[in-house]
Amino acid sequence: ASGLDQNSARGNGGELHQIVGSETPTLTTALGTPVSDDQNTLRIGDRGPSLIEDFHFREKIFHFDHERIPERVVHARGYGAHGYFETYESLAKYTRADIFQRAGEKTPAFVRFSTVAGNKGSFDLARDVRGFAVKLYTKEGNWDLVGNNIPVFFIQDAIKFPDLIHAAKQEPDRDFPQAQTAHDNFWDFISLMPESMHMVMWIMSDRAIPRSFRFMQGFGVHTFRLVNAKDESTFVKFIWKPKLGMQSVVWNEAVKINGADPDFHRRDLWDAIQSGNFPEWELTVQLFDQAFADSFDFDILDATKIIPEEVIEPIPVGRLVLDRMPDNFFAETEQVAFMTQNVPPGIDFSNDPLLQGRNFSYLDTQLKRLGGPNFTHIPINAPKCPFAHFQQDGHMAMRNPVGRANYEPNSWGLGPREDPQRGFRSFADAEEGQKVRLRAESFADHYSQARQFFNSQTPPEQRHIAMALTFELSKVQAPAIRERMVSHLLNIDETLATTVADKLGIRNMPEPAEAAVPTRDDLPPSPALSIIEN
Ligand code: HEM
Repeated sequence: ASGLDQNSARGNGGELHQIVGSETPTLTTALGTPVSDDQNTLRIGDRGPSLIEDFHFREKIFHFDHERIPERVVHARGYGAHGYFETYESLAKYTRADIFQRAGEKTPAFVRFSTVAGNKGSFDLARDVRGFAVKLYTKEGNWDLVGNNIPVFFIQDAIKFPDLIHAAKQEPDRDFPQAQTAHDNFWDFISLMPESMHMVMWIMSDRAIPRSFRFMQGFGVHTFRLVNAKDESTFVKFIWKPKLGMQSVVWNEAVKINGADPDFHRRDLWDAIQSGNFPEWELTVQLFDQAFADSFDFDILDATKIIPEEVIEPIPVGRLVLDRMPDNFFAETEQVAFMTQNVPPGIDFSNDPLLQGRNFSYLDTQLKRLGGPNFTHIPINAPKCPFAHFQQDGHMAMRNPVGRANYEPNSWGLGPREDPQRGFRSFADAEEGQKVRLRAESFADHYSQARQFFNSQTPPEQRHIAMALTFELSKVQAPAIRERMVSHLLNIDETLATTVADKLGIRNMPEPAEAAVPTRDDLPPSPALSIIEN
């Protein structure tokens, strides 16, 4: 038949046998036994019962039955690509991280973009945060910058993460909605968490429905540290800026695209890379010292706040180019394990309580998701620099220590040894205090930056925020939750609050939500405009 290769034949029942030829290898079992017939199970006679001794059939079905692993508890739907990072200039003054020592140095990279709330099979253009996770295979170990396309987060302390995600994902009794923020549980939680208001402004904005992954910024969100060879620390925020600029769709388009092509974003990345249009981002850094941190209006450890670019200008330090799709989605994109705690010498953490919690969470979740402690043996997760340690055994151990010594110190002169010069040294920050469960007062202003973001938007963008809030809150059944949200909006922008309240049919305006600290009123007022047309 046309389209079939020469070496094919029909069996008794008309089934097609494609027989091995010079161009194709012999089909084998997983253990290499050549297979003669992959169309029929072994049975007694041609109409009799199947035989349990059919090891080929059993192995094939057994393996199929075990193909699925747990999807990520968040960021389940994602799409990855390979590329490289190229350093512009040496940053040796600030960091001893090898990746930043030499101009022109190229470091292999793998990036996974994702939505947060939707399940693995959900659609690409959900209104949601986008994950922007970058794995850099540096010469001194893997550096994972596990960021988002929005510079702030919903919560200040990692202990609230399970609550946030429970509220954002499907409601437990009905298992919907899958991928939208439009539901009571989400808005209930958000309206009870004033610290989320800045993030809410961003997710109701056009940023949450990007045109494609190629037109998004990426943010490390937290304050990190750069540490130089003299063990001096500089605070840093990491920002990826797309060379193509930023673009979003409008909600009307998003809804249609989701219906017509739920794979719109992944198809876009695939098409771009396969046709040689390699997307590119510049890595920029906002650098500051302790004196700035002490004088800044907000706490640099608070992940619900930004440092405005007018206050500290981001400096470009390198570029990221994505130029190759994975050979296999599961092996690479699905099995890649990002972990915020993967940092090389010269990059360190701040005390941001969200970051500190993440540093615990990611190792734990990878153990569960990838089925054991040896997930670093999977090629996509393994470092590309030399490495040596005494870890051994466990499920699926691919690389055990070779030779007699699997411990240290030993008298045999064998095995790897610590290196006080090259090794990772945590920045020796001075800490003291009582053990308490207490949040600093410097974390308490939840509205000023929300207002600042709203005011930074153009009038059409402000209209989109108002329309998104109206749409989302119109899906909320409980009037008290809608009103609670309007009471927060009153602290952000009165026109926005009254516009949304009008559209929701709220007749008696609620009081503004009680603010923990007064919000700053030295920020420019928003233009007095009717936010929603018609
Ligand atoms: C996954 C970003 C906060 C727990 C991810 C991914 C990204 C991300 C991009 C997907 C990684 C991938 O593509 O494989 C962020 C950002 C946060 C944040 C920017 C805040 C600034 C948190 C917090 C926790 C957490 C506070 C828990 C305490 C997780 C878990 C996964 C995940 C468990 C799934 C990892 C996996 O199975 O591979 N996060 N996250 N995240 N995040 Fe976060």
